[in-house]
Amino acid sequence: MKSVNIGICGLGTVGGGTFNVLRDSAELITARAATQLRVTHVGARHDSSTCDLAGIRVSRDIFEVARDPEVEILVELIGGTTVARELVEAAIIAGKHVVTANKALIAEYGNEIFALAEKHSVQVRYEAAIAGGIPIVKALREGLAANRIEWLAGIINGTGNYILTEMRDRGREFSDALSEAQALGYAEADPAFDVEGTDAAHKLVILASLAFGIPLQFEAVYTEGITELTTQDVGYASELGYIIKHLGIAKQTDEGIELRVHPTLIPDDLLLADVDGVKNAILIEGGAVGPTLYYGAGAGARPTASAVVADVIDLARGVGVGASAPLPALGVAIADLRSLPLIPIEKVKTPWYLRMEVADKPGVLSTVASIFSEQGISIEALIQRAPGEGQTLVSLIVLTNNAPQGSVDIAVRKMEALATINGKVTRIRVEALDG
Ligand code: HSE
Repeated sequence: MKSVNIGICGLGTVGGGTFNVLRDSAELITARAATQLRVTHVGARHDSSTCDLAGIRVSRDIFEVARDPEVEILVELIGGTTVARELVEAAIIAGKHVVTANKALIAEYGNEIFALAEKHSVQVRYEAAIAGGIPIVKALREGLAANRIEWLAGIINGTGNYILTEMRDRGREFSDALSEAQALGYAEADPAFDVEGTDAAHKLVILASLAFGIPLQFEAVYTEGITELTTQDVGYASELGYIIKHLGIAKQTDEGIELRVHPTLIPDDLLLADVDGVKNAILIEGGAVGPTLYYGAGAGARPTASAVVADVIDLARGVGVGASAPLPALGVAIADLRSLPLIPIEKVKTPWYLRMEVADKPGVLSTVASIFSEQGISIEALIQRAPGEGQTLVSLIVLTNNAPQGSVDIAVRKMEALATINGKVTRIRVEALDG
């Protein structure tokens, strides 16, 4: 039987998981690939207590794996964008196919890496970079290839979704839930990437490139994290029939492309509203198929390993390998990606949820209403809470109709300048996601 030699660089959470899934499921994988997948070389700074490396060449210098002439597929699982980029480029130049779970690397340097891979007639696969074990790259690049993708919206950071779920359902503190997500191996080495939205932005640009056939443009994504969310807003959203999720959203409109990551109120009867814990889900609106939803574990050793190993199996099977049937990394060749305009965030229109603490005095409501009206923003719903015993401030919650962020920014600045409004006005976008 044919065999393929694999080199794995990095034996952390995902590297260890990949090594063990390849070993534990060897029989099944061999049958499916019609090829024996042999891990012949591991590059790692330390051995792993969970991996039996007996009989396998182990190098402390990971570049030894890229230089090893016997390795045919190099699996990059070290993370980061400096050494990882050098390693991946060295492997490509040496004529090896590459599999990676590194979303930062693909989002920030994918255009260059894919062009290099095309030049050297090798494949770079990255299914595990987005949404853990969900085969979303395959779905977009292959399963939905017949569709013009209108938009997609996804819960694409498992750590953030885990924290929000724990805060909402168990009343846990943000920092407590984050510590547990770290202990479970969900969070990034620097968890700021999770809670400030950078990780979701990395994944969103890759999804958008696959969906719209545009170059990877990480710097163009508007990004807000979850650190400012309060249980108060979660509660008011719920009263209004919404749930707050941290979403990555990409839309193709007549004016151009929207790329944004931010907390979002979504109707609580959507399937996406039920995606809790470390689970991820991506809702995609295709021109022919309509909406489709993809759901599963978004992080963790074995779910991510599932996606890494699927890419390895594809390459071992020869799927898309070779000049006769190349499978372009982003669905079309790098030279054929389209240059579409990006819509600046100030011009992106959505409905809005706004909460402000106002003085319990006559005329305050009409002043607020007139500021909205001056900016052409119409009010869809409004809740005013009676002040508590001995309190002089009331919470005013406003749901608006579609309004551009630029107009909302001006209205919020004017409201925050009023003596009758206390502190900052909280604002969160709303999305109906109704296709
Ligand atoms: N830290 C990432 C997450 C890991 O929580 O989604 C998977 O990409």
